[in-house]
Amino acid sequence: MKSILKKIVPKSAKRFYRSKQTQLSIIKDYVYDYRKFNRESASFKLKNKEMMQAYIIKEYHAVEKGLALLEPRPGFGAERISALADVVEEYLNNYGMDSVTSITAFTLREYLNFDAPYQKIPEYLSRKLEKLLKRCDESAQIKTGGTKIIPRTEITETLNFDYAGFFKSRHSVRDFSEEPVATQLILNAIDTARYTPSVCNRQAWKVYVIEHSNLELKKRLLNVQNGNRGFGEHISSLIVITGKLSSFFAYERNQVFIDGGMFAMSIVLALHAEGLGVCCLNTSYAVKQYEAFKASMEMDSDCVPIMFLAVGNLKDDFKVAISERKPLADIVEVR
Ligand SMILES: Cc1cc2nc3c(=O)[nH]c(=O)nc-3n(C[C@H](O)[C@H](O)[C@H](O)COP(=O)(O)O)c2cc1C
Repeated sequence: MKSILKKIVPKSAKRFYRSKQTQLSIIKDYVYDYRKFNRESASFKLKNKEMMQAYIIKEYHAVEKGLALLEPRPGFGAERISALADVVEEYLNNYGMDSVTSITAFTLREYLNFDAPYQKIPEYLSRKLEKLLKRCDESAQIKTGGTKIIPRTEITETLNFDYAGFFKSRHSVRDFSEEPVATQLILNAIDTARYTPSVCNRQAWKVYVIEHSNLELKKRLLNVQNGNRGFGEHISSLIVITGKLSSFFAYERNQVFIDGGMFAMSIVLALHAEGLGVCCLNTSYAVKQYEAFKASMEMDSDCVPIMFLAVGNLKDDFKVAISERKPLADIVEVR
């Protein structure tokens, strides 16, 4: 019956049916993502510690940025800073002092100090901030919030290397040696990648490192990933890069992927600098695959996958795809 139908249904009808099917699956995937964003992002209420941290970081960073301008405006941002102080107060009540409150304290202290010659901060706010700062430990020696001056030489002294050569010597490696990768090298690379820029410095990422010896989890994850055929079994360690929706607000629905992608690139380059072979592996899942991935990963509920990194040691000689690049003129328009 099926084969008869196949023969008599015209090609155009088949094409129409297939395109409707695709449309339906796109809608299903978007609805799934929409529900997850609604549930897990900080759009509606600061429901937990991570959401409060995201808000506090976003807001103290706005103050840092204001102070870092060539000519900061005395008394700037009073209303926002007052709201920030209220949230920090609540955060201290719920969770106590930590690095986030310490950074905020440094920033607010600099905000108050900056204002001293101008006296533009409204009276109610300076009282509120002084009261809040009394609750924070301001004794830390190393300043972690506010602004600092950087001499140009601090940058130029680091530039004496062949950065173009470094970029161009990286290739996606799918032909690894069998020698296991030391996890410490991966941790070193992630440690360096922490310096990746992120929106309002929110650093909304979490990385899961699956070691060489965890064959079971590696296999389960690679089984639902559609780009490792022929080399998956030779991957030493698998890095799962995720982004945390709890750090984002309603107008930032795509930001998790932008920040996550940048963070991933930093890890790739840092692993390359460690002399390891790396291949990005996509996590472009439709809902069904995503559910299978999620069941194996057991990641935090607010995490969304950005990509895997397959990591292995380099052989003395190995083959890579040439992956030729488009000419510069095709991708740049100078105006
Ligand atoms: C987000 C992302 C996902 C990728 N997914 C896969 C994948 O699933 N399997 C694979 O073999 N390569 C994958 N790649 C590697 C690309 O094919 C590769 O980066 C591209 O061809 C450029 O080659 P190069 O990395 O050697 O410069 C991925 C790359 C990126 C950035």
